[in-house]
Amino acid sequence: MRDLRARVAAEVAKVVVGADGTVDVLLAAAVLGGHVLLEGAPGTAKTLVANAYARSLDLGFRRIQFTPDMLPSDVTGTATLRGGELAFRPGPVFTHVLLADEINRTPPKTQAALLEAMQEGQVSADGERHQLPVPFLVVATQNPIELEGTYPLPEAQLDRFLFKVDVGYPSAAEESAMLRLPRAGIAATPLSRVVAVASADELAAARLEVDGTHTTDEVLDYVVAVVRATRELPAVELGASPRAAVHLLGAARARARLDGRDFVTPDDVGGVASAVLAHRLVLRPEAELDRYRPSDAIATAISRVPVPR
Ligand SMILES: Nc1ncnc2c1ncn2[C@@H]1O[C@H](COP(=O)(O)OP(=O)(O)O)[C@@H](O)[C@H]1O
Ligand SMILES: [Mg+2]
Repeated sequence: MRDLRARVAAEVAKVVVGADGTVDVLLAAAVLGGHVLLEGAPGTAKTLVANAYARSLDLGFRRIQFTPDMLPSDVTGTATLRGGELAFRPGPVFTHVLLADEINRTPPKTQAALLEAMQEGQVSADGERHQLPVPFLVVATQNPIELEGTYPLPEAQLDRFLFKVDVGYPSAAEESAMLRLPRAGIAATPLSRVVAVASADELAAARLEVDGTHTTDEVLDYVVAVVRATRELPAVELGASPRAAVHLLGAARARARLDGRDFVTPDDVGGVASAVLAHRLVLRPEAELDRYRPSDAIATAISRVPVPR
């Protein structure tokens, strides 16, 4: 998987500066069968990195730009009359990699249609089930929830995302490297420079590798202790779920493999904890007023659990 990572990161780096961490997360999600939420201010290359990543994989790719007037059937598909018979016309969700761009600009009903498909790997229409392709990876982007005219995803739906990445501003060095990328006018570096360097077979092989990663009882106990610690913090109203514990262990295994190891360490768990857990926590209002953030709560939880030796 380490080699896979190097190839994909090199492709994405042709058009985006400083995206290696995001690429790690996107690769881990594709291998584990999870979904990713990219959150950040406008103009921080969320759409660009998702596009470039999808192009680096030899898989089907679709993009949905979410808008306030979009209907659930614009995502999942519609039943149409064809020669007197009802036929299902699949929507854009029927693909391998789906970029769900600005997901919080569409009302809850349409968000729910996508999240249901993510959860179940299928779409139900008129009492019939339509299986989504495998692998199926949703990369959703959203602007921070304070912005006007947005519909924040509810907690129960956030819990379905394996990772949330906070896409921050680049460093000064990265921003200046970004200005040195070739472009025509103000357009981004053409995506046609990015070529597919990984196949579905390779992702499936990586899945087997990840599943076979050695995990000691001590590491499993550590995962449990970290998750439980998030539920006991005074600042936290809703802690991490058992589903979150499953996601945390999977992410730690993928991280070990991305690093070229066949065993998980407590550091792997700590290293992915914020990206896997922070978006699932609900803080008490007092804590939010104090500008205490979910990632601070994760850091506190980690600091309270003794690291196994
Ligand atoms: N890290 C970066 N590397 C390369 N280009 C960038 C980077 N950040 C921003 N850009 C430029 O800014 C543009 C806006 O990016 P975009 O993906 O549309 O942002 P977002 O989806 O976060 O609003 C890109 O097309 C690119 O030209
Ligand atoms: Mg965008």
